[in-house]
Amino acid sequence: MPDLTMLPAWQALKKHHAQWGGIKIRELFNDNPQRFEQFSLQLDDLLFDFSKNRLTDQTIKLLTDLADQAELRKQIDALFNGEKVNPTEGRAALHTALRNRSDRPVLLEGQDLMPQINRVLQQMETFANQVRNGSWRGYTGQLITDVVNIGIGGSDLGPLMVTEALKPYTRDKLRSHFVSNVDASQLCETLKQLNPETCLFLIASKTFSTQETLTNAHSARDWFLAHAKEQKHVARHFVAMSTNRKRVSDFGIDPANMFEFWEWVGGRYSLWSAIGLAIVLAIGMDNFKKLLAGAHLVDEHFRTAPWHKNIPVLMGLIGLWNTDFWGAESQAILPYDHYLHRFPAYLQQADMESNGKRVTVQGQQVDYPTGPVVWGEPGTNGQHAFYQLIHQGTRLIPCDFLAAVNSHNPLGEHQNILLANFLAQSEALMKGKTAAEARQEMAADGVPDAELERLLPHKVFPGNRPSNTFLYRRLDPQTLGMLIALYEHKIFVQASLWQINPFDQWGVELGKQLAQKILPALTTKAPHTTHDNSTAGLIAKIHDWRE
Ligand code: F6P
Repeated sequence: MPDLTMLPAWQALKKHHAQWGGIKIRELFNDNPQRFEQFSLQLDDLLFDFSKNRLTDQTIKLLTDLADQAELRKQIDALFNGEKVNPTEGRAALHTALRNRSDRPVLLEGQDLMPQINRVLQQMETFANQVRNGSWRGYTGQLITDVVNIGIGGSDLGPLMVTEALKPYTRDKLRSHFVSNVDASQLCETLKQLNPETCLFLIASKTFSTQETLTNAHSARDWFLAHAKEQKHVARHFVAMSTNRKRVSDFGIDPANMFEFWEWVGGRYSLWSAIGLAIVLAIGMDNFKKLLAGAHLVDEHFRTAPWHKNIPVLMGLIGLWNTDFWGAESQAILPYDHYLHRFPAYLQQADMESNGKRVTVQGQQVDYPTGPVVWGEPGTNGQHAFYQLIHQGTRLIPCDFLAAVNSHNPLGEHQNILLANFLAQSEALMKGKTAAEARQEMAADGVPDAELERLLPHKVFPGNRPSNTFLYRRLDPQTLGMLIALYEHKIFVQASLWQINPFDQWGVELGKQLAQKILPALTTKAPHTTHDNSTAGLIAKIHDWRE
């Protein structure tokens, strides 16, 4: 593939950017009363408004030309057709097959994957129904009241985020817990609330070799056996979701209690697979299928819509425009929907582990910025924490605002106040406040002239800060499935254009290797010589201070 920056559309975008000449988004709105209609799209019950960005018709034209010249169509087809889009691991990435709600077969090397996908979905449904209706009980015959998912990264963040987001669809009598950190405090604080006779542990690990997860799983099993005594009782209280049958059985979980998935499911794209068992237990299979259906709807849209009407393609292109031409280094995710409070953390892994790459698929160092730093918090909390920097700081931070029109908890004026703030922030970021406006405002408030001039620079908001807005009817399973799939595909679009592999994660390996080497230096006082002076000094201090 030709170098991205050599493509004619990239060169044209460079020129377009150079000729931008300080045009402000607010001026683009003043000049075009139809700007919202022109730069927003609706898909089912979800509206995507991208009008508050630094873009015109011409920008969209050039960005979609870039998509053509970077052969995005070919890359999308390769993704859906099960080609090895993850060449460094020699794998396909077929998370879209997991939510294929059509009758179409999905072939991987000539074999239809749908029968095995549907078999595991059925196994999950049967098991979840048994737990939820009380026919699956603990070893003393008591009902299961608590489900503990032990996993990390993609084996934690997806199920955790969705379970939190869909809390209104869960039942009080079956509580969900998530343990990910190897810091024992998380496990111990969780176990404190539990009765070994009524809890079910889900050990979620694609590889079943992740140090944190196995350490937590062993400690949870020790805690359980300290009470239950007999090994045979483990079968009623521990199940696994993994691709690795052998390791699951070595751990002592009966393979009959294993929910399988496959190497072509990337960890951070796995909530649609058996890794979603915690979700199914929490919300039931009917709702889980609606989540899958929402994602499938977006998959179809992504596969078939022309670029200028394709929401994930536009999300990806606008993000690239902000990152590579306007120098934005991060992307804020700001849900005005408290149920989405883990959505920014979930997207952080999805995006940063996928697109945090500096070499192309061919192994060449890129000469343009790739994946942004993704971060965020729910509104309105963030407003009272970090929005100051977004409004008046020196950095350009594109924001994604998300909100439901209808709350699951209608209460007085809460939702109107929430939505007023949601709308106000993107308007304020876009419009800003000029010196003339600030001066006029202070003069109207009777601020004396000298004081007015002193305060003026502090009261000016430069504005022109880009944002996208996602507005949806209600945060239900289908809408959530849509939102997640939109971001997954946005990440894929950007990776395709940047020519990087979004499906590997070699960058997490070095730290893991070093931790393995450091562990013996912490567990014994044997002399060690392989560490740098700082690490050695810190190890010595740990020994010194250890109680
Ligand atoms: O260390 C990163 C990672 O490999 C993630 O990509 C993955 O989601 C996580 O670890 C957990 O891996 P596993 O599901 O194999 O335990």
